[in-house]
Amino acid sequence: MFDLSDDHKQIRDLARDYARRVIMPGAPARDKSHEYPAAIVGELADMGFMGMFIPAVYGGTGLDILSYVLALEEVSYADAGVGVVMSVQNSLASSPILAFGTEAQKLKYLPELASGRKIGCYALTEPEAGSDAGAQKTRAKKQADGSWRLDGTKMWITNAPQADICVTYANVAPEERHKGVCAFIVERDYPGYKVGKIEEKMGIACSGTSELVFDDMHVPAENLLHEERKGFLVAMATLDGGRIGIAAQALGIAQRALDLSVEYARTRKTFGKPIADHQAIQWKIADMATRIDAARLLTWRAAVLKDSGARASHECSMAKLFASETANFCAYEAVQIHGGYGYSREYEVERLFRDARITTLYEGTSEIQRIVIAKGVLG
Ligand code: CAA
Repeated sequence: MFDLSDDHKQIRDLARDYARRVIMPGAPARDKSHEYPAAIVGELADMGFMGMFIPAVYGGTGLDILSYVLALEEVSYADAGVGVVMSVQNSLASSPILAFGTEAQKLKYLPELASGRKIGCYALTEPEAGSDAGAQKTRAKKQADGSWRLDGTKMWITNAPQADICVTYANVAPEERHKGVCAFIVERDYPGYKVGKIEEKMGIACSGTSELVFDDMHVPAENLLHEERKGFLVAMATLDGGRIGIAAQALGIAQRALDLSVEYARTRKTFGKPIADHQAIQWKIADMATRIDAARLLTWRAAVLKDSGARASHECSMAKLFASETANFCAYEAVQIHGGYGYSREYEVERLFRDARITTLYEGTSEIQRIVIAKGVLG
């Protein structure tokens, strides 16, 4: 638990080398241009990082969740925008198909996602169903031949502008809230599937985020994922794993903020000595390092627990809550340590400050994580 196996170290080192050599140099330019990192996504797929826990029989790498966490932290250290693309592909698109799909669904979709030939997304959020995920208004109507018609709008969907395959949710009986929710796998070229408004975001600029509009979209019967009216379970179980991914992304941002702060504090001088020699700065560095270690231990624990097959909802939420708050804390302190320079777009900590902000919002706000944790503790 406290040390990594040689295999895990190998995965981390492979990801670290690629992320620092290839991903990191282009991050400032992508932050400005908002350009989607298609070539990098292709190379990550070639390295096996886009289907990390998909078994080899479905074209994936067949690794454990801890390996995914280690690789994702390294990718996010270099560019958190690339990190979320990788996270959504693994945790939110592939994982529900792997956990709840039929054999035919797994054979059809998982090799495409693992190889990076197709990009996946997860469309749960709606204009009036964000934190209250059970309030799904997108309607699902079953047809006489067993196929489905879906009508509704999803929003804030990461990867949606690029996605070919989408795991989504619709309600057969909105008045019954979560008990009417069904999960579906839908494809970009289904008639009635439309990519809506593209969002301009504060950070993670190179990842795509948009609305998805389903306008009387026809979905074949075989694309229902899991049983009818069991979609909320699919959504929630998937988010448990997704939250581990966001914790890893947040860790990458936090660690980068700390490393840049240490480097700067050693060289920047005030009052005749490096600012690292001032206790005010030392305390900040100590708090950042301590919180990062604690967040990493929570994240690794959640990964190992989830891998064991146990329901780990509140442990996943603890990891996500603490790591995302840590990323924001560390990015804030990194800007403070850099002083006026930290407020300049020329300095990386300014981007980290913006990138960190999303981590306490998506895949459940910090307030939602606390609800899940309290339920776990109180029963
Ligand atoms: N695993 C399995 N089952 C679960 C579960 C889990 N993690 N969580 C809940 N359930 C089950 C419950 O046991 C319950 O089952 P029964 O009906 O059999 O009793 C059922 O689901 C309903 O549970 P709750 O009563 O707890 O549901 P709720 O309506 O109170 O909502 C919530 C609970 C935790 C607040 C949930 O709505 C939630 O997680 N909200 C946040 C949604 C979220 O994270 N959205 C982010 C979207 S993804 C994203 O960000 C997009 C992106 O692209 C990155």
